[in-house]
Amino acid sequence: SFSAIFFRYQKEAANITQDLEACANEVAHDAFSLVRTIRAYGVEKEETLRYKHWLKKLTFVNVRESLAHGLWNMSFNTLYHSTQILAVLFGGLSIFAGHMSPEQLTKYILYCEWLIYATWRLVDSFTSLLQSVGASERLFQWIDLLPSSQFLCKGVKLQQLRGDIEFVDVSFCYPTRVQALVLQRVNMSIRSSEVIAIVGPSGSGKSTLVKLLLRLFDPTDGEILVDGHPLKDLDIRWLRRGVGYVGQRRQVRR
Ligand SMILES: Nc1ncnc2c1ncn2[C@@H]1O[C@H](COP(=O)(O)OP(=O)(O)O)[C@@H](O)[C@H]1O
Ligand SMILES: [Mg+2]
Repeated sequence: SFSAIFFRYQKEAANITQDLEACANEVAHDAFSLVRTIRAYGVEKEETLRYKHWLKKLTFVNVRESLAHGLWNMSFNTLYHSTQILAVLFGGLSIFAGHMSPEQLTKYILYCEWLIYATWRLVDSFTSLLQSVGASERLFQWIDLLPSSQFLCKGVKLQQLRGDIEFVDVSFCYPTRVQALVLQRVNMSIRSSEVIAIVGPSGSGKSTLVKLLLRLFDPTDGEILVDGHPLKDLDIRWLRRGVGYVGQRRQVRR
């Protein structure tokens, strides 16, 4: 039961290590891609601390894992050597009593040594195997993910994309922040070849309108029509190929 606990622990530790590494990498990646902004605001220290926070957690888990491994090896070795001592002790007594010959005892101890050594190696390999299983679990989760339904069902491809756009009572909140309604019953109609500018304060939902038009998200409520066809009925790849899009860069430039 001790080895069962140890195995489960090793597997979980591998999982946690992976998650923590991912968090630390994300922070580092964010910081490097926004390095100009970070410099401009002088928040290098805070960013370093954020990275250190995850590294500390990672160290904690790794130290704990090493301790568990050490404890495991120690208890196994203690058991192994104490059995040897007992075998020599009781075997020696048996030899003196004439129940056993010295060759028999030597054979017995050698066989035991092989058996125990083999078991120990086996457990060690099994531990590595379980660590790999723990680490690959996340990979299989990703592999098992199905493509978005947007790509699975084939939509309509129109003969030509004219570019009439209509938003009908469109409401939207991001799936990760359902409590914040970004768009509330937006109605607008843009005719093909018309040039328009949408103006509003930062965070008012201008980019969100474009994301909805590209079907990067679907409206929570209401409908978007392109050339009179609901966006949901159109073939998504065909639609996106017909839309020119220049996203805003994440870097703030002077
Ligand atoms: N991926 C996202 N997940 C959650 N909230 C978001 C996301 N993108 C934008 N938002 C939020 O939606 C609101 C509108 O954002 P956005 O459309 O980018 O505004 P604008 O382009 O007008 O500055 C903001 O409050 C923003 O914080
Ligand atoms: Mg924007």
